[in-house]
Amino acid sequence: MAALMKDSIAQTPRIVIAIDGPAGAGKSTIGKRLAARLGALYIDTGAMYRAVALKSFRLGVLEPSSAPEPLLPEQEAKLAEIAQGMKISLAGDPFHLQVLADCEDVSQEIRMPAVSRYASIVSAVAGVRAALVEQQRRMGATGTVVMDGRDIGTAVFPDADVKFFLDASVETRTERRYAEQRARGIECTREETRLDVLERDRRDYNRPVSPLRRADDAIWLDTSALSPEETLEKMLALIHQRLSVRG
Ligand code: DC
Repeated sequence: MAALMKDSIAQTPRIVIAIDGPAGAGKSTIGKRLAARLGALYIDTGAMYRAVALKSFRLGVLEPSSAPEPLLPEQEAKLAEIAQGMKISLAGDPFHLQVLADCEDVSQEIRMPAVSRYASIVSAVAGVRAALVEQQRRMGATGTVVMDGRDIGTAVFPDADVKFFLDASVETRTERRYAEQRARGIECTREETRLDVLERDRRDYNRPVSPLRRADDAIWLDTSALSPEETLEKMLALIHQRLSVRG
């Protein structure tokens, strides 16, 4: 299948694969593997929102200790300005992705739970989204890409060649996030992780600008009962099917 996929991809000048879905649905685990199998560039757009959240934190635009919502208009304007002025790049292969914010490697720091929370707040700001979507379109214009996020199939690349919407139960997503955080040495309880997943769902699905939703033409996949390998094989088969139908 891998050889077959590479062949069919090689015949097409540029393929965009969009993967959207809620936190913990498996987007980045699968996105990386998919990109490696297809010889594609992997773009983790969540990392970009996280990088803006981290910088806003450091500059004191967001208060680390208190609930910052609703944001004040001047905070929103400052956040948009930060996003517009930042140079975010992703370097390395999909499994060793380095996130560079203004040339600083922030790959580890952006995974802290506080940054996750603030990233979902920052990502609701229209000016932040406009700045990052523009960067994402530029990054995606360079060749065959696998891009994951919340609005790839609906806003960033509405004409993506194949779109997936990955989902999983709250329990499964909590377990995955919990294991991931423990593996990174981050202290947290299961319950804190569950509440965090629910809170991020609430924000991602309900924000007025580009809320998380499945594009009409996206393939919906529930990964709750699937291993990453099973999910990957299903997706490769579906991509192959879609591309061969298109000819
Ligand atoms: O995928 P992630 O957990 O790293 O994303 C961090 C936050 O960024 C998430 O709460 C939603 C937001 N996000 C977004 O709004 N649009 C994207 N394309 C990617 C992420």
